[in-house]
Amino acid sequence: MHLIGAVILATLTAALPGPPNQTTPPGPAPRFVNTLMPQPSHLSTQEGPLTLTPAFAAITDHYRDARVDAAMARSLNRLRTQTGIPFPTSPPAATTSGALVVSVDGPGETIQSVDEDESYSLEVTPSGARLHAATVVGAMRGLETFQQLVQSDATGYFVPAVSIRDTPRFRWRGLMIDCGRHFMPLDVIKRTLDGMVAVKLNVFHWHLSEDQGFRMESRAFPKLTGMGSDGLFYTQEQAREIVAYARERGIRVVPEFDIPGHTSSWFVGYPDLASGPGPFHIEREFGVFDPVMDPTRESTYKFLDTFIAEMAIIFPDHFMHIGGDENNGAEWKANPRIQAFMREHKLQDTAALQNYFNQRLLKLLEKHGKHMVGWDEILTPDLPKDIVVQSWRGFDSLAAGARNGYDSILSAGYYLNLMSTAAAHYMVDPLPQASGLSPEQQVRILGGEACMWTEQTSPQDIDSRIWPRAAAIAERLWSPRDVDNVDDMYRRLDAESLRLEGLGLTHISQEAVSLRQLAMTQEISPLHTLASIIEPVTFDERAQIQHPNQLTPLDQLVDSLPPDPPSRHNFELLIRSYLQDPATRLQEQAELTTRFKAWIAAEPGILHLMAGSANLAQEESLAPQLTVLGTIGLEAVSYISSRLPAPAGWKAEKLAVLGEAAKPRGVVQFTVIKPLRDLVQAVPEAPNE
Ligand code: ACM
Repeated sequence: MHLIGAVILATLTAALPGPPNQTTPPGPAPRFVNTLMPQPSHLSTQEGPLTLTPAFAAITDHYRDARVDAAMARSLNRLRTQTGIPFPTSPPAATTSGALVVSVDGPGETIQSVDEDESYSLEVTPSGARLHAATVVGAMRGLETFQQLVQSDATGYFVPAVSIRDTPRFRWRGLMIDCGRHFMPLDVIKRTLDGMVAVKLNVFHWHLSEDQGFRMESRAFPKLTGMGSDGLFYTQEQAREIVAYARERGIRVVPEFDIPGHTSSWFVGYPDLASGPGPFHIEREFGVFDPVMDPTRESTYKFLDTFIAEMAIIFPDHFMHIGGDENNGAEWKANPRIQAFMREHKLQDTAALQNYFNQRLLKLLEKHGKHMVGWDEILTPDLPKDIVVQSWRGFDSLAAGARNGYDSILSAGYYLNLMSTAAAHYMVDPLPQASGLSPEQQVRILGGEACMWTEQTSPQDIDSRIWPRAAAIAERLWSPRDVDNVDDMYRRLDAESLRLEGLGLTHISQEAVSLRQLAMTQEISPLHTLASIIEPVTFDERAQIQHPNQLTPLDQLVDSLPPDPPSRHNFELLIRSYLQDPATRLQEQAELTTRFKAWIAAEPGILHLMAGSANLAQEESLAPQLTVLGTIGLEAVSYISSRLPAPAGWKAEKLAVLGEAAKPRGVVQFTVIKPLRDLVQAVPEAPNE
């Protein structure tokens, strides 16, 4: 642990701004720049790198199977693309020096569970590398680390000599995607899985049904997708393909069919399942709606029995997610037959009726070999202890679950759709130091899941809503608790973001693609300057301002912008570094001046582009702000660097302007206001007369 701290400090110092385009002088061995994400639990560095040459190979020396072979082939392919070195495609017959030897004890579990051993050790020396793991999944985790270690200088590619022993802090490290509100095509899901394995996430929670769409083919009940999906759904073959693709990467697939609420789309084809009279339609709005399954009819359970039996075969994971959230109980209260049922069964309220439903559901899941996962609303003491509770409403419900003997996972704090910063997610710990839980209860916190709800997300922009921020959450769930330096996280996140792009994710490239579409020209450089300092407002703000529904096109400026863009933190660092010692930080001063001038210079070009695009023209009020902010920045730097005081009242006036600029403009906001405030605060000011 202490070693890690030292490495982080060393790399932080090493990462401070230096002259760009430095060429490496001949002589000392290249230094290790730690960009690993997630950080391993134990890492030490040694002298000398392993140089990658065309003789490099990856070979197994013990257990091997199709999964480990495929994982190694993927790794080698990526290395080949990254380095341009033509490594041999087939492994050499005998051990060669300079190779990566992958030593795996055995295959691991046939159906991956929360108890799968994912640990590994990795030794890299100048003469070769050795990866050892008990299971194939552990080997896959180590291969990703090996990949992340690869560095380059002007002379070539190398892997620094390190010794790593690594094991995840939490066993359940997931990502949920809501494919109900907006359908996500297969290629989106596959590249998301590619990103997940790169950062060692191990559960894909596939949210497959919602009021706004039923997305999974059922042959027993074809009207589920036939009438409830707008034709946008996964066939059973496609679902199997995803399950196999995920297994190849050591990722479990937990399907969610959210019941008894959030079920409008089920009732379009099967209205007899519902508690209300209908008629039912695919819901286009977002929120919480009244339609809810009828838990008092035997036919409901007969339907669910058949449905679960069908799904249990397609999704081999030990768990099935039954949702259980946000049932407002309105249709149960309004239905005299259901009220009579509740009286007859002495069910005091709708929560008690939902508990009755869950008990019945549990028996069906057990019959088909599944454990139950549900959102924290399902938490009642009379459910058996082999269920998992997913806490979305806060840490308290997570802790309550663990105290009552339930395995629990945390999602509160990990909602990617809220458009929070990576830092905000990173600081949320499923098991904080002062959790108040006993050691026994702590073991029940299995981990957490990042959640990508898609009310405001389309297949075009989903990558930028998930990545790279999910990598920060992945680190929180894998690495030791004390790996918590936010600046260092952002430094490594930048590196990880590029690696994720190399895997085919579009979180970086999509912005320029969308801006070109909006501007209808390839000459978008002024627009790019604007885009680099704005980001979407929060999810709730956008919902209030714009009231988007399922049919709202998500192709506006806001949709092209990544939340928490790298420029936000980098600008903060730049200002912080400058203000530490303005008299000597001339490089930072020059960099700031250049940026502020670029903002001002961009305004006419942006207005020109806006004049030719009705979509962009809606954002017209942003353009003059660039000049306002750039001018404040230039004046502040000028006062600070000349040490001449600004006139009395200057600061208050500029802070007021920045206060105005901090407010959302439409559905976007500036990312640079806080550091600009710090800059203005640092200006010396003449005393009041
Ligand atoms: C949820 O956000 N309703 C699980």
